[in-house]
Amino acid sequence: MDTRVVGIDPHNIDHKELKRAGALIRDGGLVAFPTETVYGLGANGFDTDAVKRIFEAKGRPSDNPLILHISRAGELDRLVADVPEKAARLMDRFWPGPLTLILKKSSLVPEVVTAGLETVAIRMPSHPVAMNLIRYAGVPVAAPSANLSGKPSPTRAAHVVRDLLGRVDMIIDGGDVAVGLESTVAEVTGEEVVILRPGGITPEQIREVIGDVALDPAIEGDIIRGTPRAPGMKYIHYSPEADVIIIEGQPERVAAAIERMAQQLEEQGKRVGIMATRQTGALYRHGRVIPVGDREDPSTIAAGLFAALREFDALGVDVILAEGIEQRGVGLAVMNRLLKAAAYHVIKA
Ligand code: TXA
Ligand code: MG
Repeated sequence: MDTRVVGIDPHNIDHKELKRAGALIRDGGLVAFPTETVYGLGANGFDTDAVKRIFEAKGRPSDNPLILHISRAGELDRLVADVPEKAARLMDRFWPGPLTLILKKSSLVPEVVTAGLETVAIRMPSHPVAMNLIRYAGVPVAAPSANLSGKPSPTRAAHVVRDLLGRVDMIIDGGDVAVGLESTVAEVTGEEVVILRPGGITPEQIREVIGDVALDPAIEGDIIRGTPRAPGMKYIHYSPEADVIIIEGQPERVAAAIERMAQQLEEQGKRVGIMATRQTGALYRHGRVIPVGDREDPSTIAAGLFAALREFDALGVDVILAEGIEQRGVGLAVMNRLLKAAAYHVIKA
């Protein structure tokens, strides 16, 4: 399949081109596009065949449901059975933005989208290219992250090109995304609100709006407890070619331990990558160092994490030694993705 790669400047949108992309989606095509979280791979959410092609293009297991993306609150009603009061408050506060809500589905939503579940995931992205594309498509846009299944989610168009060129109809290049991690997924089907996947909207922020929020036990801590309620969370995700090891503890001790390990591994003939931070990057004498953001501001680490994992793959390293960060605020989401990339391999310094 020929894939058209089209640049669209989010600050100066080429509406003619974006209308064509919207029509392509409506007519059953696959279009990768930027959102504020990660790039998505969109198809007409009402078109079962088009949605099936998403699963084929990504190599995604068919039991992993997709998020429907909308551009106006008014589109929600026909997709869901009802909107609990807490869901309405969360939408008011965080839409458009990086929050996906799991609600009871209506009969209009095809089974292929929800993988047979009685619930559907809905999100309204804030990225201007995504918003306008969905509006021009005129249908809810089913879209997972635009990576091959098992690869880190794409945070720039080059990542999508690498994974999906020849597998999709169009890739829209709208530059680097802002958040860098996938949206927070929260289930709001009853009284209780449960976070199934941590993301850009933190538990602290959600608590401010609705009081209490639970975390699916499967995302807490460094071991998997029970079966995650978001089917996608059970797969080994975000996995680069290299083995990833997380080193946790007090920052100076972490840096010292990583330096020691890097030296030992290099003596064994291994190529070592070090995922450092702005504060520690210059401390290392061994390994290929990529500083990813600022330890004091986890959102900057979120923004660079997936690109760094892909860069280490391009460098051909055998092992990635990654500094752990505090699981507070967006740090919870950062560590959730990093722990998956590391298959929960953690060393305490
Ligand atoms: O930021 C994002 O959410 C990006 C952009 C493109 O919007 N999309 C994204 O989609 O990350 P995906 O498919 O890679 O991840 C969706 C997650 C999966 O873990 C899936 O299992 C879960 O949401 N999910 C979808 N529908 C669900 C449902 N009805 N119940 C529970 N979990 C659901
Ligand atoms: Mg994904």
